Amino acid sequence: MNGEMDWSLFFRKELEPVQAYRPGLREEQIRQIAKADTIYKLSSNESPLPPFPSALKAMREALSTLNEYPDGSSHHLTQLLSWHYQIPSEQIIVGNGSNELIDLIAQTCLEPGDNVVYGWPSFVVYRSSAQIAGADCREVALAADGSFDLDALLAAIDQRTKIVTVCTPNNPTGAVVSAAALEDFLKKVPSHVLVVLDAAYEEFVDDEQAAAPLAYFDGQRPYVVLRTFSKIYALAGLRCGYGFAPSILVEMLHKIREPFNVNALAQIAARACLEDDEELDRRRALNTAGKRNLCACFERLGLKYYPSEANFVWVEVPDAAATFDALLSKGIITRPFPEANGLRVGIGDTAGVTATITAFETLFPTQ
Ligand SMILES: Cc1ncc(COP(=O)(O)O)c(C=O)c1O
Repeated sequence: MNGEMDWSLFFRKELEPVQAYRPGLREEQIRQIAKADTIYKLSSNESPLPPFPSALKAMREALSTLNEYPDGSSHHLTQLLSWHYQIPSEQIIVGNGSNELIDLIAQTCLEPGDNVVYGWPSFVVYRSSAQIAGADCREVALAADGSFDLDALLAAIDQRTKIVTVCTPNNPTGAVVSAAALEDFLKKVPSHVLVVLDAAYEEFVDDEQAAAPLAYFDGQRPYVVLRTFSKIYALAGLRCGYGFAPSILVEMLHKIREPFNVNALAQIAARACLEDDEELDRRRALNTAGKRNLCACFERLGLKYYPSEANFVWVEVPDAAATFDALLSKGIITRPFPEANGLRVGIGDTAGVTATITAFETLFPTQ
């Protein structure tokens, strides 16, 4: 071969706008910066607690079987989900995180020239999955309360729209759409558009007016609900999510997924979690209490925040980058959104919430 290689010959041009996911700082990098002994990682909407004890026990017992491939159909987990939610197993798909399911849906449905409609800011994978498939992204501003503006989403839909995604509670604002608004929206979405409802934070919701996404699932209309074991179930490192979809779409997703997409420990741990309602309730109560305390602190300090229904709170500060650095030096890692002067602050365990409140009170003293 002579001369410089022209690598662009090899690469799909649709990939040009795609940006690699930028991970947060690693623990050792943080330890170099932070002056605190204890680090609170509140930047990735993870659980501050370890996996459920029942899940840890089940995984320990399964370690010696890891010489075998996992069950490629996630059979037992799918059956349990079917029983748990009273939805036929043919309408359920398990994925390597719900992230994989978002990608699979995009790969299944989108062609270059199609477009995808979703609110913004929201989960970055809505954008990357569409871009990778060569589709256009229509990013619609959020409503004033930080939730998806469903009327604005409807207005952005046209003949080439294949998917409209609704995230409730929304990441990064924690705001939800109401049941009445979602019901009305679903009636108005044209039938050529697949509605994907991402309910990754559903288990944290306290608001009784909030939409319960599964209430509208009938396995017939083009409506998908996605959930995950990464958040309240504290299994982010294992990668396990699931979705409810019409069986014809589930069959398509099975065609293109990897044969062994969900690892064996993830399947076993997820089953243990689903059978442990007591631990689920305990964790929900802990999150609710932490969220109340943190929001009360922002209220006292006069900082604007969105009342959150998730395991994080969006707060506005005069200088997000500087506040991020100041919190980091105290061992508290948050996620800054400098373009919006916002920080997404995860709800830690009791000690984490107390440390966060103390840090904010120091940084923003009241007169
Ligand atoms: C809104 C939303 N959806 C989906 C995911 C993906 O979750 P996972 O792939 O871990 O199931 C996340 C992760 O942060 C998220 O915030």
